[in-house]
Amino acid sequence: MNTYLKATLLGLALFLATILVIESSGTLWANAENAPPSTNLPIPTGPEFKLGAHLYQRDCASCHGAAGDGLGALADTNDLLKPRNFRVEPFRFVSTKSGIPTRSDLIKTIQGGIPAAGMPPTLECSSSEVEALADYVWALYQMGVGKEKFAGEPIAIPSSLDNGSAILGKELFLTHCSACHGKDGTAQNAAEFPDFLGRLSKPRDLSDGSFHGGNTDEDLYFRIRCGLPGTVMPGFSEEQLTDSQVCDLIAFIRELSRN
Ligand code: HEC
Ligand code: HEC
Repeated sequence: MNTYLKATLLGLALFLATILVIESSGTLWANAENAPPSTNLPIPTGPEFKLGAHLYQRDCASCHGAAGDGLGALADTNDLLKPRNFRVEPFRFVSTKSGIPTRSDLIKTIQGGIPAAGMPPTLECSSSEVEALADYVWALYQMGVGKEKFAGEPIAIPSSLDNGSAILGKELFLTHCSACHGKDGTAQNAAEFPDFLGRLSKPRDLSDGSFHGGNTDEDLYFRIRCGLPGTVMPGFSEEQLTDSQVCDLIAFIRELSRN
């Protein structure tokens, strides 16, 4: 089965899963769509969450909702992408095979923010405050879909990622990626794909150089290997792409954003 077909099937499966989720948790999401932030969901309590809860309500609840359901007051003003619903959605920016983030993955996202999606970095927070936030977000997730989940194991990264060939990368891109991202990587004429909650959007424009999961070669390596859980973008295993081929793709993506 070729990769695109697999990806399309995965997309279809995700879409069906989405419908199932919406059906089975109908009251959770369908009503939530228009409802004010639902403070009636249980939230983590206990002394270990005191700091995280305080910082979360101060800096995050306006978008992610007081109970982490993604329905904060500012959620609708953000056209780019909806704030993550920690109670029902998977995390996307992961460094693991299982698709469940490590604590460091969460810390990294929270520290740097997601500027391209309007999420600010936590410049004023100390590292222990960022850790408290990560633990609080993880606790919210564990009170929802993350109930039985364990933090994933990070995959190994090759020692050098910046020695790829953009020319070879272009060929690989046309084989594995362009069906979704477009031949030129801008996704301009691309189809829209549903995310985990059925919300449609185009794949990222890879030529603008601002990635949601971070801009380093390492970040791109993880995105290609691990995919973006909760979206149609699959991870590519070592059987599909060798490490040196992933490096070629990274070189090609770098070239796209230079032009
Ligand atoms: C202005 C709105 C806004 C604020 C404030 C905000 N976020 Fe976000 N956050 C977002 C959006 C939008 C996304 C989804 C971006 C995407 O999917 O690319 C997101 C995604 C996330 C994710 C998911 C990362 C992943 O791997 O999927 C985490 C974790 C997160 N935010 C934590 C926080 C924390 C903690 C705070 C407070 C310190 C915070 N956010 C404040 C808008 C916001
Ligand atoms: C089935 C469709 C599909 C295929 C195949 C696909 N992608 Fe994606 N890709 C997406 C979608 C959709 C997004 C945006 C997800 C989101 O909104 O969070 C995305 C996002 C990305 C991002 C942005 C990550 C970030 O941090 O912002 C990168 C980089 C990327 N893809 C690279 C690739 C590469 C390289 C390939 C081929 C090896 C590939 N994609 C194959 C659909 C696809």
